[in-house]
Amino acid sequence: MAKHGAASMLTLALLLGVFALIPTAVQSIGVCYGVIGNNLPTASDVVQLYNSNGIGAMRIYFADPKALTALNLGGTNINLIMDVGNENLGAFATNPSAATTWVKNNIQAFPDVSFRYIAVGNEVSGGNTQNILPAMKNINSALSAAGLGSIKVSTSVSQGVIAGFPPSAGTFSSGASSYMVPIARYLESTGAPLLANVYPYFSYVGNQAQIDIEYALFTSPGTVVQDGDNAYQNLFDAVVDTFYSALESAGAGSVKIVVSESGWPSGGGTAASTSNAQTYNQNLINHVGLGQGTPKRRGPMEAYIFAMFNENNKTGLETEKHFGLFNPDKSPAYPISF
Ligand SMILES: *[C@@H]1O[C@H](CO)[C@@H](O)[C@H](O)[C@H]1NC(C)=O
Repeated sequence: MAKHGAASMLTLALLLGVFALIPTAVQSIGVCYGVIGNNLPTASDVVQLYNSNGIGAMRIYFADPKALTALNLGGTNINLIMDVGNENLGAFATNPSAATTWVKNNIQAFPDVSFRYIAVGNEVSGGNTQNILPAMKNINSALSAAGLGSIKVSTSVSQGVIAGFPPSAGTFSSGASSYMVPIARYLESTGAPLLANVYPYFSYVGNQAQIDIEYALFTSPGTVVQDGDNAYQNLFDAVVDTFYSALESAGAGSVKIVVSESGWPSGGGTAASTSNAQTYNQNLINHVGLGQGTPKRRGPMEAYIFAMFNENNKTGLETEKHFGLFNPDKSPAYPISF
């Protein structure tokens, strides 16, 4: 018995040892699911495609009942960022009951969806920026009242809200600081992250004289920017750290950045090729997967690739139609592994 008992203890110790080595599962890479195409798969097929590829997080750009229904049925394991469309911010800012109704119809109605963050607007501009913070507060109150306070409320911003170089000199830009500083401080008080859309592609295209494409594609052989003690080998980290410096300068240094979009187009413009898109997105997945964070903020990070599909009805630049990891028939646009 004693022997058997000792063996059991050893077995138990080994088991505990083994379990202790299993990292606590944090799905760090997600993919944005945009639906501006006339040839895309059904939402339940899309959820299946996330599952079969092991993609554990999704962003959707509005409270899409089809996506929510499919996630509620077959996507409980998929963490979700859900946007409040920019056109709704005014109503939610001024009318708490509109926020309550939205939470009821689009969150409480889908109890098996793993809502993680609500993005109150995406790259909001102009006078509508004044609505972001009051709308965030009303949605936060509605979530708390519904017992859903663990869902964090934020907003998704573009690189246009930051300025400064090198990364340690980052601040909110003169055009954005009036609304971003109060938002940053509010996020600090709620413990929510700031959602940031980070595009080395557009930085590169807009400044090819000063930015080497290797720096944008994560393929530089060594340090490109030395900033005090921090050495930058890729532009992605430099942009994320510029956001962190901006948060610090706003008095909100404990707020985390979640990269709510990043990607590279496979066609339709300068440096847009399947080869560059594959290189960027695979290197982004690998970089985030290392769990080392950025030079300024070590540790796990969370990023969402834009986007799941090539969307043929997107307007704007031709490249907008070519950010997809998958074709509308669900075949990969190029090989990628998650
Ligand atoms: C979407 O794009 C396809 C292909 O270009 C086109 O045939 C269709 O008319 C577009 N639909 C809308 C609603 O714009």
